[in-house]
Amino acid sequence: MKEKVLILDFGGQYNQLIARRVRECKVYCEVKPYTMSMEAIRKFAPIGIIFTGGPGSVYEPSSPQVDPAIFQLGIPILGICYGCQLIAHNLGGQVTPAQDDSAREYGKTVTYFDTACKLFKGLPETGISWMSHGDYMAKVPGGFALTAHSDACPNVAIADETRGFYGVQYHPEVNHTENGTAMIRNFLYEICGATGEWTMEDYKNRAIAAVREKVKDGRVLLALSGGVDSSVVAALLAEAVGNQLTCVFVDHGLMRLHEGDEVEAAFAKWDINFIRVDAESRFLLKLAGEAEPERKRKIIGEEFIRVFEEEAKKVGTVDFLAQGTIYPDIIESGLGDAAVIKSHHNVGGLPDYVDFKEIIEPLRMLFKDEVRQLGRELGLPEYLVSRQPFPGPGLAIRIIGDITKDKADTLRQADFIFREELAKVGQDKCLSQYFAVLTNTRSVGVMGDGRTYDYTLALRAVVTDDFMTAEWARVPYDVLDRISVRIVNEVKGINRIVYDITSKPPATVEWE
Ligand code: XMP
Repeated sequence: MKEKVLILDFGGQYNQLIARRVRECKVYCEVKPYTMSMEAIRKFAPIGIIFTGGPGSVYEPSSPQVDPAIFQLGIPILGICYGCQLIAHNLGGQVTPAQDDSAREYGKTVTYFDTACKLFKGLPETGISWMSHGDYMAKVPGGFALTAHSDACPNVAIADETRGFYGVQYHPEVNHTENGTAMIRNFLYEICGATGEWTMEDYKNRAIAAVREKVKDGRVLLALSGGVDSSVVAALLAEAVGNQLTCVFVDHGLMRLHEGDEVEAAFAKWDINFIRVDAESRFLLKLAGEAEPERKRKIIGEEFIRVFEEEAKKVGTVDFLAQGTIYPDIIESGLGDAAVIKSHHNVGGLPDYVDFKEIIEPLRMLFKDEVRQLGRELGLPEYLVSRQPFPGPGLAIRIIGDITKDKADTLRQADFIFREELAKVGQDKCLSQYFAVLTNTRSVGVMGDGRTYDYTLALRAVVTDDFMTAEWARVPYDVLDRISVRIVNEVKGINRIVYDITSKPPATVEWE
């Protein structure tokens, strides 16, 4: 990539968001720790640098600092919040704790912009910005102009257009800031001279070439779960190295209805070695009589490794083990510093069991939205690329109590109807995750002239950005009603439906 932006991370909570916004503007960027050396920065050769926010106060000696030489590189810099204060602090301004509450700003704030500044070019003069700072720029550094203010604070944004240094006290990366992405776009296009070369089609071609270069005539092994990440890795490798790739897809019998067939069908067009292991009876045997959620998880995890190991042995020596690690995993585990990341980080212990020379992770620089986009570019079907998350242990943790094949079949049918009805009314597009749970409770019902004593099924649908917290989804009553009527009529063994109206916390998304 010629056009790269460097995001120096000072520990703020929105740093991944900044990177996503830059990529949305079709410019490639990487998030690196603020300790990155000047030599490494020069080598990276960014067209622009963004300093992120952070929890520190620039005037405290222990707070994260930059090498002042960074201001001599001749590269435009945008400082956000703490990053803005860093610019001021380093270039002769003064940052102090806000003396009174009026200068300490949090939340949505009406802000007035000087649209003659390139950062705000073409944007409205007034807008809402998202503030979150307790420190205040008491003195603006020499050579800088004030380019935005609020009613409480005269120094909301500063700019030295000659040197290409810009600072904003608010967070343009957060959705609450009106035109925030447009400001980032202005920084990239008006100030750094970007042309927008980061597209998924381009990335696909480059990634395919890179994989070919690395793998040469070697053999690659991939554990394909059918989730978005491993499916996109499989498609990319299939396109790059064809039948040098072996995908092992372990069907543990706790997948959703038709899921195994769908995954297999999605890869039928490529000439790869696709091994589908039907291990249902093996897993059910191991799980028999087990009701404790963590034990179920452990049994499935261990059995999965055993099955994968057996299949890998049949394949023989492989040169590369491929994995679906994505960029958020990298940022979260080591701030983009490759040295910190252990190769075992995301593999659930697999490398200990399989003989291979090297790991390849072709998605390690991509965000989830980009992974989905790449999947589309590679011709994977939409049902695979836009798939909701599905836990590794599958339906095992959605069947409360002990697991039997009958229960799994019952749950599969009910879950299918739930998903089908939500999709019919387009609700599936608004929900982050939705599924059915077979509770271990039976209750009395009446069907026709007879008494029933059958299971209660719970429906769960949530909306969330990050799955750390989640809201229960307000699915319309008439949709829930249709689902309830259909399931009770069509699925044997269920005579009562409940809808889960707890958020996370205090509940979790899954029931186990
Ligand atoms: P919880 O239930 O913890 O779920 O609120 C948050 C997200 O994690 C998924 N989840 C799992 N994924 N193995 C997985 O691969 C698991 O054991 C597991 N447990 C929960 C859950 O589906 C949701 O997306």
